[in-house]
Amino acid sequence: MGKIIAITNQKGGVGKTTSAMNISARMGYLGKKVLLVDFDSQGNASHGLLHFNEIKDTVFSVISEKVAIEDAIVHKMTPPIDILPSDMNLAGAENLMEKYGVGKELFLKKQLDKIKDQYDYILIDCPPSLGLITINALTAADSVLIPVQCEYYALEGITQLLLTIRLVQQTYNRNIRVEGIFLTMFDIRTKLSVDVSQEVRKNFNGEVYQNHIPRNVTLSEAPSRTQSIFEYDPKGNGARAYAGLTDEILKRNEGK
Ligand SMILES: Nc1ncnc2c1ncn2[C@@H]1O[C@H](COP(=O)(O)OP(=O)(O)OP(=O)(O)O)[C@@H](O)[C@H]1O
Ligand SMILES: [Mg+2]
Repeated sequence: MGKIIAITNQKGGVGKTTSAMNISARMGYLGKKVLLVDFDSQGNASHGLLHFNEIKDTVFSVISEKVAIEDAIVHKMTPPIDILPSDMNLAGAENLMEKYGVGKELFLKKQLDKIKDQYDYILIDCPPSLGLITINALTAADSVLIPVQCEYYALEGITQLLLTIRLVQQTYNRNIRVEGIFLTMFDIRTKLSVDVSQEVRKNFNGEVYQNHIPRNVTLSEAPSRTQSIFEYDPKGNGARAYAGLTDEILKRNEGK
């Protein structure tokens, strides 16, 4: 039975999508069966790894029950992962869900439950908000992986997100856990990065991974080639960091 991990932070531009793409890719190269669900109407993860002509249907058609989930999933070779793409239609999904009333949080879970046992890990790339889309992701998920950018107000952001997770735990998904917290866009040369990193580690000690993701330009360039960092710059610091982080995530889960 696959484990569903939502990559969430309500703050925009902290590295959710970059992490979702590269952690999935690393897991795929390690032989795990992985599905990356793009659950953001920006479609950044989809367009970061797929060419336009590879995308036929999207997660919006799936949750609207117009298309079967198996028919919307794209199978990739490099990196060796499956992707459920998204597009701007998903922006209308919150209205559709809201109208539904009871069960409005279950749209994604209902679909992922159908295919969960075909995968080792399903990663969900969430949008930068705590609206119904993210609530759907948290309701479907077994755990939440939290990227934190090294900047002011990082701690406040984590605290707010943990409150939301607790709310979801009390209402929709009693089993959800925090998978872990990791620092992104870390720049050893800036005092701010070092200070924020120390603060986050002090406050959320056991949850924070040893590996952090450095600020590295190749990580932002790879999606323009529709590649993960493991094809675009396999020997660079970005690939090394995402490999180290992913291995730590797998070790926490599989104890190896
Ligand atoms: N470690 C990094 N080093 C340099 N640039 C990065 C790094 N991580 C992400 N970026 C760049 O920063 C921008 C924001 O990253 P990304 O899209 O992953 O964040 P996000 O949290 O998914 O954003 P959104 O909230 O809009 O979905 C992108 O242009 C991305 O390429
Ligand atoms: Mg994103």
